[in-house]
Amino acid sequence: MTDLTRRLPASCWSVLDGELALEGVKVSEVAAAVGTPFYLYSTQRVRENYRGLAEALAPLGVSVHYAMKACANVAVVSILAAEGAGADIVSGGELTRALAGGIPAARVVFSGVGKTDAEIAQALKAGIHQINAESYEELWRIDRIAGELGLVADVALRVNPDVDADTHAKITTGKRDNKFGVDADRLGRLDNELKAMGNIRLVGLAVHIGSQILATKPFAEAYRRMAGLVRGLRERGHTIERLDLGGGFGIPYQNELAPTPSEIAATIRETVGDLGCALAVEPGRSIVADAGVLVTRVEFVKDGGEIRFAVVDAGMNDLMRPAMYDSHHDIVPVKLPESDIEYLAYDVVGPICESSDTFAKRRALPPLSAGDLVVLATAGAYGATMAGTYNARALVPEVLVDAGRFAVVRRRVSLEEQLGWEAMPAWVTR
Ligand code: LLP
Repeated sequence: MTDLTRRLPASCWSVLDGELALEGVKVSEVAAAVGTPFYLYSTQRVRENYRGLAEALAPLGVSVHYAMKACANVAVVSILAAEGAGADIVSGGELTRALAGGIPAARVVFSGVGKTDAEIAQALKAGIHQINAESYEELWRIDRIAGELGLVADVALRVNPDVDADTHAKITTGKRDNKFGVDADRLGRLDNELKAMGNIRLVGLAVHIGSQILATKPFAEAYRRMAGLVRGLRERGHTIERLDLGGGFGIPYQNELAPTPSEIAATIRETVGDLGCALAVEPGRSIVADAGVLVTRVEFVKDGGEIRFAVVDAGMNDLMRPAMYDSHHDIVPVKLPESDIEYLAYDVVGPICESSDTFAKRRALPPLSAGDLVVLATAGAYGATMAGTYNARALVPEVLVDAGRFAVVRRRVSLEEQLGWEAMPAWVTR
């Protein structure tokens, strides 16, 4: 393995006959069976990532609620369910997926700023562990719906700690001007308002300051702030028995240094370890990002004069992260080059009619030709879940590998199928 393959975890990737293979399955073999583009996931790597974190956190009694939004494929979720993971959901749809994947309702927490009546009712009826309320307005809504159902809802209040996570602005959630959580300075109202709510049990607090956070300092700052709030609320007579610390643990996409599970555990221990709260985290990216790649085929190498474009058959609709966050994904040819070959600079672009449909600019790569397969690395998180059908494209499939075998776990949704979702009004004459 070389620098080209630095972001393909060596525990599950290998080179077979000069070609990339995941858990002993050649990428080219899957491409021949499934067509391109497609997501390819490693069962083993999902497990390794989960176990690495869960084992580091076990001595602190921290439970792990996997953030479904990172990769919500039911087969992937079921790997985590078998490991004993809980789920962090942000919609009724994710609840349906978590349950379908075998995660018990009693291990599900529900976050999100805009939960509808129907979603809250669905969650309460299912008997989930906890709803993380993001506003006083939402507390009232949960109280009303729980009352209608004749239940008492276990609720944690998500607090906005006003801490800068030092990450991309579009995935920062813990600053005062973000829409998330209740301002830490506005918890004074809680005492009176809770008294007036008969169907809510305030069980704890929750916090989540953003995603792809690479330093432990913002976590430490936020967790310490939460510890202060827990103590303050307890002094005012509230029984705060749970603390949900959110997710956001960053990972390397290029050469970044990311916090290790033991560093995360140490941060938790030092800041909130002595509160006597049942602790939880909600990681998404760090569990699945490096367990998945997007496999795509080069359609053309276009000589654009100054710039050489490699036009691939995946588009921003399949992997939105580069267009949305200027994210970096390593690109690796499936047939690995001779070690002494000279690299060329490519702009790797998709077929979508927007300039933002660009996966890499001036990327040094071994020479590419039409028909070559390449993988976009570290695409297991927020890849397939954010994919769409823009430009009337088929929905990208997902393939799961497990110790030498593979299965399509979401098939390509063709245009014929998608047309079946639409209807022609009777007044349209053709
Ligand atoms: N908990 C809550 C309440 C969240 O909002 C999120 C992510 C997580 C947990 C999981 O965070 P993670 O451990 O995955 O960082 N689409 C973006 C990331 C958006 C994250 C949104 N919230 C991306 O592709 O980078």
